[in-house]
Amino acid sequence: MITLEVPSRDKSYHWLLSWITKHARHTQHLSVETSYQAHESGRVHTQFDFHPSPGNHLIWYGRKWIRVERTREKQMVDLHTGTPWESVTFTALGRDRQIFFNILQEARELALKQEEGRTVMYTAMGGEWRPFGFPRRRRPLSSVVLEQDVGDRLVHDVKEFIGNPKWYTDRGIPYRRGYLLYGPPGCGKSSFITALAGELGYSICLMSLSDRTLSDDRLNHLLSVAPQQSIILLEDVDAAFVSRELQPNENPLAFQGMGRLTFSGLLNSLDGVASSEARIVFMTTNYIERLDAALIRPGRVDLKQYIGHCSHWQLAQMFGRFYPDSPLSDGERFAQDALSVHPEISAAQVQGHFLLHKTDPQAHRQCQENQRVNGPEGE
Ligand SMILES: Nc1ncnc2c1ncn2[C@@H]1O[C@H](COP(=O)(O)OP(=O)(O)O)[C@@H](O)[C@H]1O
Ligand SMILES: [Mg+2]
Repeated sequence: MITLEVPSRDKSYHWLLSWITKHARHTQHLSVETSYQAHESGRVHTQFDFHPSPGNHLIWYGRKWIRVERTREKQMVDLHTGTPWESVTFTALGRDRQIFFNILQEARELALKQEEGRTVMYTAMGGEWRPFGFPRRRRPLSSVVLEQDVGDRLVHDVKEFIGNPKWYTDRGIPYRRGYLLYGPPGCGKSSFITALAGELGYSICLMSLSDRTLSDDRLNHLLSVAPQQSIILLEDVDAAFVSRELQPNENPLAFQGMGRLTFSGLLNSLDGVASSEARIVFMTTNYIERLDAALIRPGRVDLKQYIGHCSHWQLAQMFGRFYPDSPLSDGERFAQDALSVHPEISAAQVQGHFLLHKTDPQAHRQCQENQRVNGPEGE
């Protein structure tokens, strides 16, 4: 008899659960895993996934019966995640281990197929990364309209980085690259990073530095165990630490709270992300002036990009994407009108306007007219 035990902290555990669900079609002991997703529109989508419940299941596979036992410890709880300690054990007759390799392989392929064309988001749970929510359908890069060439330049830079590990190893330079996107809210920083991950086929590891349970050690650990082919995304980095220069009398850990994450701990973690594969860190902020210079110096942040309010060109592009049947001149007209009323308009506001007037490309004319009559509060 040969057995294989897979503990819940192993990466393949969730893949195997799905595999078991697929193969143990006749099992009558199921447990449910409910996930739901709240859309920006407020619509909530709920999905129930059945998994084989703890206990024994028999699966006919590869012309053999395999016993699958899923156990859940009643006494033991994973201290990191607060979930019960679990494992699945496969038992087969014979001595051929190949059958387990086949199962693991199949489970992995199954999982990858489900993720195909989608972007998986991970968040940190204790000391590990857990996928959260549904894998999202990839957002096409073209749907995020940045100022001319800005998007292309970033994509080109990241692709070049990923494609050249040798350049780094030859020179003994850690194989990582840091990016900072800064600028007013609603202009596409987060959207662009999501779309970029989709374009690269990468997942996103979302990390909040203002998480109060984050300590130096944990951050360090998390960065070193991040899933392969993922972008580490640190959103709103300004919120976690206030520039030391701005607060001379205060402890650099202005954001001390209960958290034990220190500013130097963050820098060390960023510097220490040693890994043989490409490590890409993206940071975003609305207030670059609040960031400590040490955080964004080259090596930690290799490329800074301002993502600002919409330009004339962007507005015309967005108009064209939204109302593909309208003549180009309408887009130009729209851009002109929009800027004359709101010289600083974010892409999110423009998107909001389009959504309000889905079928009426000329709606802005009316808005502008109202504004001329009623003053800037018109819209
Ligand atoms: N440049 C853009 N092109 C298309 N849509 C955009 C753009 N910028 C923002 N949006 C839309 O506005 C909303 C907020 O954008 P987000 O990326 O979260 O902004 P930021 O991270 O810069 O605050 C999203 O729904 C996004 O689709
Ligand atoms: Mg954002």
